[in-house]
Amino acid sequence: MTNVDYLDQLKWRYATKKFDTNKELAEKDLEKLLEAIRLSASSYGLQPYEVYVIKDEETRKKLHPAAFQQPQILDASYLLVFTAITKIDEAYLNDYIDNIVETRNMKKEDLSGMKDIIMNAVISQSDENKTEWAKKQAYIALGNLLSAAAHYQIDVCPMEGFDPSQFDDILGLNQKNRATAVIATVGFRHKDDGLQHADKVRKSKEELFTRI
Ligand SMILES: Cc1cc2nc3c(=O)[nH]c(=O)nc-3n(C[C@H](O)[C@H](O)[C@H](O)COP(=O)(O)O)c2cc1C
Repeated sequence: MTNVDYLDQLKWRYATKKFDTNKELAEKDLEKLLEAIRLSASSYGLQPYEVYVIKDEETRKKLHPAAFQQPQILDASYLLVFTAITKIDEAYLNDYIDNIVETRNMKKEDLSGMKDIIMNAVISQSDENKTEWAKKQAYIALGNLLSAAAHYQIDVCPMEGFDPSQFDDILGLNQKNRATAVIATVGFRHKDDGLQHADKVRKSKEELFTRI
């Protein structure tokens, strides 16, 4: 759909309920979606999340009941679990600054002002606030995934219908300073999934936008 109008791509996409288990997403196409996630914008560029890309059938079988038995968990080619990083401390910020120094060939001293700003605005916040903030950033990456997948004609179901604490337990996330924010399944729609033909239900422009 590369030459198709972008809005038509967005109309083509829908939250897929029934995936075709016989159509497997190729590794190279998965990589494109992961790159779209990697390129997502985030507050201060801190990308305070990690995405688990789950192919393993056994793991998905364990997660399935924790996602209210939604069939997408098992039937899609991949399950993506967007986790928020729950330990956002000075060491985390230092790693980010090192990345900027290396990527842009800069001097660390030139970034000390920026470091102070992020220390005050983000790092000094409570762990609870930081985790909530990190989850919001993960949702931006999810949005990017949805748009990129529509562009490449790959199907996704974004999902909040799961128990985050069970996901955290099953994936051992607490020990890794991670907490499940949101999940998505990726693959190809089954031709029998009737929702692909349904008209989009959306608010009118008048309701959704206030122009001042
Ligand atoms: C954050 C989020 C969570 C969602 N959770 C689920 C879910 O658990 N299961 C599901 O089948 N659909 C889920 N959906 C899909 C929405 O119901 C769907 O996006 C919405 O009804 C609009 O329809 P469309 O995406 O097909 O255009 C979720 C969507 C979003 C963005």
